[in-house]
Amino acid sequence: MASAHPYAQPMLRDNALQGKTIVVTGGGTGLGRAMTTYFLQLGANVVISSRKLDVLEKTAAELREQTNNANILAVQCDVRKYDEVEALLEKTIETFGGVDVLLNNAAGNFISPTERLSHKAFDVIVDIVLKGSYNCTLAFGKRWIADKKPGTILSIVTTYASVGSAYVVPSAAAKAGVLAMTRSLAVEWAKYGIRANAIAPGPFPTEGAWSRLFPEPLASKLDPAANVPLKRVGDHQELANLAAYMVSDFSAYMNGEVVTLDGGEWLNGAGEFNKLELLTPDMWDHIEKTMRR
Ligand code: HXC
Ligand code: NAP
Repeated sequence: MASAHPYAQPMLRDNALQGKTIVVTGGGTGLGRAMTTYFLQLGANVVISSRKLDVLEKTAAELREQTNNANILAVQCDVRKYDEVEALLEKTIETFGGVDVLLNNAAGNFISPTERLSHKAFDVIVDIVLKGSYNCTLAFGKRWIADKKPGTILSIVTTYASVGSAYVVPSAAAKAGVLAMTRSLAVEWAKYGIRANAIAPGPFPTEGAWSRLFPEPLASKLDPAANVPLKRVGDHQELANLAAYMVSDFSAYMNGEVVTLDGGEWLNGAGEFNKLELLTPDMWDHIEKTMRR
């Protein structure tokens, strides 16, 4: 059997995150779970949090077994509620003696024409994504500053945080806010030893995203890989590899950066002449002949 492609294999050396305590919001499912798995394999202590404690506890039990690392804790926390975020921070410090990394990964999203949204539908997305991220960032940042401890913040945004996107407008507006916060705090909090960075993933199949962004009959008509120049979707391990590097001390000089991991997807949508990809060699012969004439 052929071995997995390098992008589907762990990248960092053994124990690269030994001794680090990382809080992953939305860590029970999807990409949060994938990053948590790799952090545990690299020796980190990880706290996973979200609204559904049963999901978190099941994930924690499975990952303890799978990674042979028992240092995973499930804590219920709705990131929209500042008191719950403060309780998450306290529980983390009480359990592991400190906290080194905040991974803002929790999100909510669904596709809809914007004029069909109620103001509450707009609120629910912005509250989870933007308010949730600033609640966590503020609580963790204040603590690091008060304790004179360094810290690292990594936020998962999207490629459309920079360019916008139709039909996911609350998410686009909120993710843009998270990106602006990341770049602002990278400068303001560097003096405290706090770094802030972001990852902008392209399409990575997860149950949470796919059920809300590619529901039937869309899923059978729209191939998420079709717009990606590399003609594939992302593998969870390659995102986990990047995230592990960005939360580790190996990336100590990286600050205020957003790393796009999308196989070239957003640039494909942006370039004026990119659709000429569809032309055949015969068509090019004809065009060249006409132009030279
Ligand atoms: C229009 C909708 C709607 C829909 C909900 N609402 N779904 N409106 N179309 N499909 C409206 C409701 O009617 C209500 O407004 C308001 O939104 C709140 O809805 P609730 O169901 O009460 O909210 P809640 O139970 O808190 O659920 C939040 C949620 C849900 C965001 C709607 O989908 C969720 O829990 N999501 C979490 C996980 C997730 O979304 N993962 C995907 C991330 S993918 P009214 O006015 O009726 O009260 C991602 C990646 C993007 O971000 C990039 C991919 C390439
Ligand atoms: P997912 O599995 O649905 O993850 C979202 C997580 O957020 C869930 O675990 C959910 O858990 C949690 N969450 C939602 N509301 C919350 C709240 N109020 N408080 C705390 N936690 C909450 O989807 P995913 O695809 O892995 O997405 C993970 C991240 O990647 C998100 O930031 C998303 O925007 C980003 N992203 C994904 C893709 C992709 O292609 N998959 C592309 C670009 C960016 P509960 O329901 O238990 O609260």
